[in-house]
Amino acid sequence: MTRAIAYTEFGGPEVLHEIETPPVEAGPGEVAIRVEAAGVNPIDGKLRSGLRVSAPIVEPRRVGSDGAGVITAVGEGVDGLRVGEAVVFGGARGAYADAVVVRAENVHPRPAGVSAAEGAALGVPVGTAYQTLRSLAVGPGDTLLVHAGSGAVGQAAVQFAVLWGATVVATSSPARFERLRALGAIPVAYGEGLADRVREAAPQGVSVAIDAAGTDEALHTSLELVPDHRRIATLVRGADAAGLGIRAFSGGSPEPLTAQQQAWRAEAVPVTLALLAARAFSVELGPEFALADAADAHRALEAGADGKITLVP
Ligand SMILES: NC(=O)c1ccc[n+]([C@@H]2O[C@H](COP(=O)([O-])OP(=O)(O)OC[C@H]3O[C@@H](n4cnc5c(N)ncnc54)[C@H](OP(=O)(O)O)[C@@H]3O)[C@@H](O)[C@H]2O)c1
Repeated sequence: MTRAIAYTEFGGPEVLHEIETPPVEAGPGEVAIRVEAAGVNPIDGKLRSGLRVSAPIVEPRRVGSDGAGVITAVGEGVDGLRVGEAVVFGGARGAYADAVVVRAENVHPRPAGVSAAEGAALGVPVGTAYQTLRSLAVGPGDTLLVHAGSGAVGQAAVQFAVLWGATVVATSSPARFERLRALGAIPVAYGEGLADRVREAAPQGVSVAIDAAGTDEALHTSLELVPDHRRIATLVRGADAAGLGIRAFSGGSPEPLTAQQQAWRAEAVPVTLALLAARAFSVELGPEFALADAADAHRALEAGADGKITLVP
């Protein structure tokens, strides 16, 4: 049997509980994976609480999309992946489990030297950061403002933008400044007076901004500092974007991602794995919890732990 985490009603972390499901089997185009680590993302908690509206629950709903593990079976028509191979996956319907079945296109070989926890930290955050920067055409000559630069999405956005030649200013709490500096960003504390601090940090001006914080402050500061409002994107306040004249990618946006945006999200994981293998990208790991303690992992998520929280079956 497979052990997985699920919920049958929306609510606090306590609604998460362990269930047993039949052993996984890989159908055509699918890969079965023994999970070694699952990544905990804010969206997992938003869906669980009902904050992000989803379909009514009609059967135990499993949690989590990102993880890493070892292939146990390969379905018909799958090329380039083999049993026993260490991999990273995204797009799972329930990565909080000891085994999953995932579409082969969402499974990528994990290079030597990349841990299961690092691999599990990639999917949603790096996909989102990479696609957002591509959609905003961030590159040399840009000065990018990243709100919530110390989070998983923010750290990925900082690193890609620096690699692609932009100057990056990133907001965080002061305790996280060293981490942001190590990634190549100019750190600035969020809170009252933010726009003035960003002007001081970037006297040349800010040409593009990403909101991964979702605060009024992040939105208003971006509107004040970025001349072209179509170069501002929110990843959290999607429902408000059209009214503000800015862009949104998921995060409650009524506009679905385009095929190109989805393709960029998919491309991000193998690109990041190659960078990690070359020691040109860094993942900050946070607390690790046993699978059975998924509720505690969600409490840590909601309390704001530093680094990517992972679950280990
Ligand atoms: N649209 C999408 O497709 C998409 C995809 C992924 C994530 N998201 C959303 O993006 C957000 C960030 O995700 P994540 O995975 O990066 O989360 P995370 O790793 O938990 O990071 C959250 C960050 O928010 C920062 N923060 C807290 N209060 C803040 C404030 N008042 N102003 C600015 N920053 C503040 C924290 O910084 P300090 O620790 O320095 O205080 C922390 O680094 C979440 O709301 C998530 O749901 C959207």
